[in-house]
Amino acid sequence: WKTLDDIALAGKVVLTRVDINVPMEDGRVTDTTRIDKIAPTVEDIIARGGKVVLLAHFDRPKGKVVPEMSLGRIAPALEASLGRKVVFSPESTGAAAKAAIAEAGPHDVVLLENSRFHPGEEKNDPDLAAAFAALGDIYVNDAFSAAHRAHASTEGVARLLPHAAGRLMEAELKALDAALGKPARPVMAVVGGAKVSTKLDLLGNLVAKVDHLAIGGGMANTFLVAQGVNVGKSLAERDMAETAREILKKAEAAGCRIHLPVDVVVAQEFRAGAASRIVPVSACPDDAMILDAGPETVAGLRAVMGQCATLIWNGPLGAFEIAPFDAATVAAAREAARLTQAGQLISVAGGGDTVAALNQAGAAQDFTFISTAGGAFLEWMEGKELPGVAALLA
Ligand code: 3PG
Repeated sequence: WKTLDDIALAGKVVLTRVDINVPMEDGRVTDTTRIDKIAPTVEDIIARGGKVVLLAHFDRPKGKVVPEMSLGRIAPALEASLGRKVVFSPESTGAAAKAAIAEAGPHDVVLLENSRFHPGEEKNDPDLAAAFAALGDIYVNDAFSAAHRAHASTEGVARLLPHAAGRLMEAELKALDAALGKPARPVMAVVGGAKVSTKLDLLGNLVAKVDHLAIGGGMANTFLVAQGVNVGKSLAERDMAETAREILKKAEAAGCRIHLPVDVVVAQEFRAGAASRIVPVSACPDDAMILDAGPETVAGLRAVMGQCATLIWNGPLGAFEIAPFDAATVAAAREAARLTQAGQLISVAGGGDTVAALNQAGAAQDFTFISTAGGAFLEWMEGKELPGVAALLA
């Protein structure tokens, strides 16, 4: 794929797909990370003489105009983050969009209305892709976190205009390639989360690629059940035990070492302040549930991390939303951060809850790279082709 360095932008209208699908509460943006991260691309395009026209979705309006999902509500946060005037177009295609682009000065940023207000967006309708393409001379995709969607604004339009990856897209692709494409070995993956069933493709792909796979969270319980361990009333998918055994076999054949908890934190119930204790994994009482990995498990993970050159992380190791069940995630994340800062580890993390968990540990800023993506990060880790990235390569 081309980058902004490979394409002439002077005097061009640059249709720039970004992901500013940010969390909002009471009309205010509560986390501006995704907005802040597009600044390098916006600044670079303007510095090279291009006019920036932002194309993006917000939430899931399902092809209808839903006023509460208007991107106009994001415009103030965008102005504050970029320090530039934002000209909002209440339409993402047609005459109104063209008028907004004409009205904007060369140092302003045009923001088009939510692309998902059009039913053709999620269907990747060629007519809608053509209507987007009619607005600009060049298409830049900076929305790695939406690249798993084959939509008109992420895939269709890329086929109609000269195209390049934006700076954030470039950084994401480079970091992910360093973690799983051509990584420094040994490679360790940490995968947590509630369910094996939602991460089957992920586990299957990882055991073929990494040297060590640490499994935590509720999904570790399913693997323990598969090994005949009593997990009491823990969250576990008992009908997935056979699948878990197959993954263990596949790992063994591929030379991937699986790390499961050797000790666990158990409690009678999952609530703040519930009495908890640490027991060997073989001693979970029938009436208790496993809510975190224990200190011996964490010591083992830290030791493995210390031997590895690359770490890729998705999902918390325990029920990290409620203390003290965040202890294993926090301790392991801090060790990864420390090794990274000491120059001994390349650490990449992403996906849903993961960034929140690493932030809670105060470790996120010390990782080599934190992806802005949720679903796209997972699909990429699963070894799937991302349509938005594939279209950039065409
Ligand atoms: C995300 O928030 O992960 C992206 O913006 C994609 O959103 P979607 O899951 O609604 O397609």
